Amino acid sequence: MPKIKLKNVISTDQFSRQDLDILFKLTDDIIANPAKYARSLDGKIVATLFYEPSTRTRLSFESAACRLGASVISTENAREVSSAVKGETLTDTIRVVNGYADAIVIRHPEVDSARVAASVSTRPILNAGAGSGEHPTQALLDMYTIRQRKGDFNGLKVAISGDLLKGRTVHSLVKLLSLYDNVTIYGLSHKLLKLPQSYVDFMKKHGTEYISCSEFTDLPADLDVIYHTRTQLERLEAGAEKIKEYIIDEKVMSRFSSETYLLHPLPRIKEITPEVDDDPRAIYFEQAHNGVKIRMALLVQVLQ
Ligand code: CP
Repeated sequence: MPKIKLKNVISTDQFSRQDLDILFKLTDDIIANPAKYARSLDGKIVATLFYEPSTRTRLSFESAACRLGASVISTENAREVSSAVKGETLTDTIRVVNGYADAIVIRHPEVDSARVAASVSTRPILNAGAGSGEHPTQALLDMYTIRQRKGDFNGLKVAISGDLLKGRTVHSLVKLLSLYDNVTIYGLSHKLLKLPQSYVDFMKKHGTEYISCSEFTDLPADLDVIYHTRTQLERLEAGAEKIKEYIIDEKVMSRFSSETYLLHPLPRIKEITPEVDDDPRAIYFEQAHNGVKIRMALLVQVLQ
């Protein structure tokens, strides 16, 4: 199998189309031949340092490490139970954990945290969510999920919706979609939660059309993907709960074609109603499960 030149995973702008091709083919092989990879990381130790809450990212990284034969050391609530409480800097923590583990998976409230960690680390750093900045491994599994249904990314029409301002998963996703030809992205959000200009500029620079919208009726019925997100209340000022939410229910789904797939990074709060879960186009739980396999592929890439 070819390898990607990958020391750290900090941002999706590190990845080329060719990199994604290699990563997704490796993921296909891991799914098809799990036994072949079961001892790939024997003797390695993966540290998961989470300064913010997580269910999917931490557990799927830890599951991925275990399924490759690695061991895991973890601090799931580092903001409260690590020596950060005593005032230790992130860089000192990383230097110390370098002596305990072969790779470090980090989630932290600061946008620059993964980059700062990588600047002092002798071990690979994998960004598991950096404040309202990026969440690159989520976007990689999102792309893999889209590929499973659509086969190709060229020419896709994708709606990103909900909180485009603070939603780090959409920030990482639009950069990956922009690698492909003739992609159109529709951004559906309240005016207070619009996509930051830097991402709009990134898309423009890469020839990706971006259309800002305010109603579901602004979206074409033949969309390939709707990527919905929750409002990141924990990152917004008090009163943000009053901002209009875009709720996807059966009526909204009925506007779209039988090939319009609904993704969501989860957790879902109330922005997708539970009855939509039975719609065959709702693939967010499948998407979450793909997290283990993509993260296995990433760990193989950085540790082998
Ligand atoms: N999608 C995602 O990042 O979920 P968690 O916050 O549960 O890790």
